Amino acid sequence: MCGIFGYVGSRRDAGTLVVEGLKNLEYRGYDSWGMAYKPNGSIVVRKDIGKISDVRSEDFGAPCSLAIAHTRWATHGGVTQCNAHPHLSCDGKIAVVHNGIVENYGPLRDALKTKGHTFLSQTDTEIIPHLIEEEMKNTADFAAAVRGAVRKLDGRFAVVAMHTDSQSLVAARNGSPLIIGAIKGATQGYCVASDIPAFLEHTRTVQYLDDGEMAVSDGRGILFSDIATGAERTKREIEITWSPEQARKGDFEHYMLKEIMEQKESVARAVNQNEEQILTLAKAIQEARGTFLVGCGTAGKACMAADYFFSVVAGKHVNYTPASEFKLYHRFLKPESLVIVVSQSGETADVLEAMRVAKSKGSKVLAVVNVEGSTIHRDADYTLLINAGPERAVASTKALTGQLAVLLLIAYALAGKLRDGRTVLLETAAEINDMLNPRYVERLKKLAEKLKDCRDLFIIGKGWNYPMALESAIKIQEVSYVHAEGFAGGELKHGPIALIEQGTPCIVLAGEDEVQQDILNNATELKARGAFIIGVAPRKHEVFDAWIKVPDAAAAQPIVNIIPIQVLSYFLAVSRGKNPDMPRNLAKSVTVK
Ligand code: F6R
Repeated sequence: MCGIFGYVGSRRDAGTLVVEGLKNLEYRGYDSWGMAYKPNGSIVVRKDIGKISDVRSEDFGAPCSLAIAHTRWATHGGVTQCNAHPHLSCDGKIAVVHNGIVENYGPLRDALKTKGHTFLSQTDTEIIPHLIEEEMKNTADFAAAVRGAVRKLDGRFAVVAMHTDSQSLVAARNGSPLIIGAIKGATQGYCVASDIPAFLEHTRTVQYLDDGEMAVSDGRGILFSDIATGAERTKREIEITWSPEQARKGDFEHYMLKEIMEQKESVARAVNQNEEQILTLAKAIQEARGTFLVGCGTAGKACMAADYFFSVVAGKHVNYTPASEFKLYHRFLKPESLVIVVSQSGETADVLEAMRVAKSKGSKVLAVVNVEGSTIHRDADYTLLINAGPERAVASTKALTGQLAVLLLIAYALAGKLRDGRTVLLETAAEINDMLNPRYVERLKKLAEKLKDCRDLFIIGKGWNYPMALESAIKIQEVSYVHAEGFAGGELKHGPIALIEQGTPCIVLAGEDEVQQDILNNATELKARGAFIIGVAPRKHEVFDAWIKVPDAAAAQPIVNIIPIQVLSYFLAVSRGKNPDMPRNLAKSVTVK
């Protein structure tokens, strides 16, 4: 949530560079944007409500070599130009962008007011440049003043600051991500950003800032230190494998469609895991006393499906808990417990909190993540990458199927059938490639056209298709704003069936499995009340009014069943005139609790 991008170096087009880079972070927040640079030695701030993608980066071409920028997802204060970042000190010499929440901003603001500071916005962020300004009364060293200021902050933050009289960019982190990109060669310099895609065009050499650390760069070198003690820190440079092409939209109209289509390859990449490592992890799960699966939203639905994978494939009981609820389970955690956290971004605040709770009890954490080097990836005891490549659309698609594939592979390994698991999944990956052909996609587009004006849409599933019914509802809601709800098929007659009217569309997720007849019976109950039944299944059944064919994928059925729903959601959004890449009120990577 909120995207930050800063640059310092030998290039003279820092303003254009940060605005361009910020466009690659728009998925982190898009209610307003802002930037600060120093074209003539003093700080100039430009900010506005609306999307950074609508801004012309050439308009910031005045020569300068230091700039910061921000795209906002509002927490404190409404969506106004005034509340957009950067924020300035009273003398206008210090500019700050910030991601996170300053929990003690109330008392800090009151104290600053008594010292004569005036505030123009309703944000928590605005206190930061004023705190730095206060610190600068005691030191001429800008970095030292930033250190003094951020030490006073409670809560989670990523802060990047610049000063009129300093050529240095100063970044500090506690809880919200900040990554340094080192540009080598003739145009030497440093980028600092909330996520890697911001600077992927310029460099793949990264250094991760950890919690409680800060970085200071004048463009020729960079110094890392501990915020609390000031002690210097050394950081490894890491070469990341993502390419700039992977992060581009290419010929697709939206990232969401691009990423759905990428599942032709990404599921196979997820299966490509080190055998020995999977077996070691399976052993850790086998020996654990209490295994928990924890994630948020779509990643949470992958965990819930894995609950069934572990039970059906491996006969192993695990406990799924949404990450935001996990802290209440601390009583069950022991040093012998294992907590499996699942996250695309590797930065979700509730998941990080769950990890903190697990660690406080001495439990071990296995992270299944997409973003290499993310906080969750770095802080876990064991890790598995799903290899989906950058996921830019807010709605998670290829990351989900990658998570499902990796979790199913673990379940097979747990059952002593790793080879079988690999075979099932690789066959599924090949089937997905066949399934996502232009004719199939066109049929789903037509179905979306037909459904686009419906008031309600219900999705039912049983067994491992139940979490996919919940996930289907998330996908439809978040991009098309159609009211969609997912249910376990058997639960309908306990209340929700009262909502079914003549023609109400109901999607039924089915497979060739032991619960097939049950879910078809549930579909029949709905049909008897007038529902229009859309079956997603390997075979056409009599109860279906419309049929979306999917391969028979055994335990990988949830993977193939969710893909047509992703496509349908996409076209529902487009046919209703919504931008599926930027759903209202949302942002990718939820870094606030
Ligand atoms: C929905 C969606 C979210 C995320 C959730 C967790 O399409 O993307 O529900 O799944 O915010 O995010 P990660 O996986 O980054 O922890």
